[in-house]
Amino acid sequence: MSDGESTLITGIGELVTNDGAPDDGKPGAFAAMNDAALVIAEGKVAWTGPAARAPAADMVVDAAGRAVLPGFADSHAHLVFAGERSEEFAARMAGRPYRAGGILVTVEATRAASDAALRANLLRLVTEMLRQGTTTFECKSGYGLTVPDEARGLKLAAEVTPEVTYLGAHVVPPEFAADPAGYVDLVCGPMLDACAPAARWVDVFCEDGAFGADEAAAILAAGRAAGLAARVHANQLGPGPGVRVAAEAGAASADHCTFLTDDDVDALVSAPVVATLLPGAEFGTRQPFPDARRLIDAGATVALATDCNPGSSFTSSMPFCIALAVREMRMTTEEAVWSATAGGARALRRTDIGHLGPGARADLILLDAPSHAYLAYRPGVPQVAAVWQAGRLVAGTTVSNAA
Ligand code: NIG
Ligand code: FE
Repeated sequence: MSDGESTLITGIGELVTNDGAPDDGKPGAFAAMNDAALVIAEGKVAWTGPAARAPAADMVVDAAGRAVLPGFADSHAHLVFAGERSEEFAARMAGRPYRAGGILVTVEATRAASDAALRANLLRLVTEMLRQGTTTFECKSGYGLTVPDEARGLKLAAEVTPEVTYLGAHVVPPEFAADPAGYVDLVCGPMLDACAPAARWVDVFCEDGAFGADEAAAILAAGRAAGLAARVHANQLGPGPGVRVAAEAGAASADHCTFLTDDDVDALVSAPVVATLLPGAEFGTRQPFPDARRLIDAGATVALATDCNPGSSFTSSMPFCIALAVREMRMTTEEAVWSATAGGARALRRTDIGHLGPGARADLILLDAPSHAYLAYRPGVPQVAAVWQAGRLVAGTTVSNAA
C-alpha cells in the first residue's frame, strides 16, 4: 500500500478497539465489536464499525472471521546487551535464588562487544517482537554502566524506538563497589549529561543490592532536571520503597510490583502511577507472580510488559505474558489484552497507540484466531498472522485485493 492508498480490513470476527476515552485519567476498559471492519488511511485508523456498513477503500483485506487487535505496547525491555545467561537460568530452575548481581555478567559481555554485535542482537530481538505483534516498545540502557557505554546503549536504542530509557542506575558496577555514592554522582552528573539527549525516560532499579530510596529519588530528580520523565524498577525481589519513590517522583510507571503493601497499592492508585507487571520475570526467576486482581480491584491502572533481558526474563513475547497473566495473575482475558495494549500505552504516556479509535496510529494485529481470548487459550502457539505499523504491513501476510 502506498501512503496515499486506503485499506479496508473487513470480515473481522472480533475487532478489539479499546476505544474508550484515552484521556479520562481512569484505567479505561477493554472494548470490542463483532462482525466489524476498519479502514486505514494515511497511517491512521480512519473508520471502524459494522462490516455491513464499511465504506469503500483502495485495497480490501478479508480477515475471514479472525480477530484484529491493537498492536502490543511493550513498555519495559532491556534489549541492548551481549551474551546470554542460560546457565544461570538453569541453576535457578534447580533451586538457586535470583540475585541482582547476575546483571554484572551481562555488563562485562556488553562492554566487550562491538557496536555491530550489539546492533545485530538488538535487531534480532526487535524482529522477534514485531513478528509477535509488538508495534511499540521501550528500550533501556543499563548494561554499560560507564559514560561511553551507557551513551552507546542509548544511541543504539534510539535507532529502533523513540521510547528510550536511561538506566545508568541498574546496579553499581564493580569499579565503584567501594564507592557507591561516587557512582550515584556519576549517574546524576557526567553520565546523565552524555545520555539525556538520546533518552525520553530515566529509570532506577530501587531494590536491595541495587539502589536505595534516597539514591533513587536523587537520580530521578536529576533526570527530571535534564528533561527525562521517570519510571522505576520497584518491589521486584521483596517489599521496599520503590513504589513510594515512584509515586513521589511523579513517575509514569512502577514496574514489577511483585511485593506490595496496602500502602503501596494506595500510592499507585492515588498518584496515579501505572503498575507495570512483568510475568516473564516471575516465570524466569521462579518467584510468586504479582497479584493483578488486587491492583485492578483497587482501581490501579495495570500494564503488562515482557522485561525482555538475558537474565530474569528472556522472552520477547507479549502473547506469552498475556497467557501467564490470565492463568497466574487472576486477570480476565479482556483485562490482560487491555493491559498489553492500552495499559502499555498509558505506561508510556502515549494516547496515539493502544487503541483503534479513529485517529489512532494504525498499529494492529490480525490473529489467526476468532477472538482475543485465544492468546491465553492457546498458549505457546504462534497466532499472529499479520502486523501493521502506522498502516504498513510489516510482518506476516494477508490476501489483499484492489477494490
Ligand atoms: O527487570 N531488575 C532489574 N533488571 C532486570 C534484570 C536484569 C538482569 O538480570 O540482567 C529486570 O528483571
Ligand atoms: Fe527490567
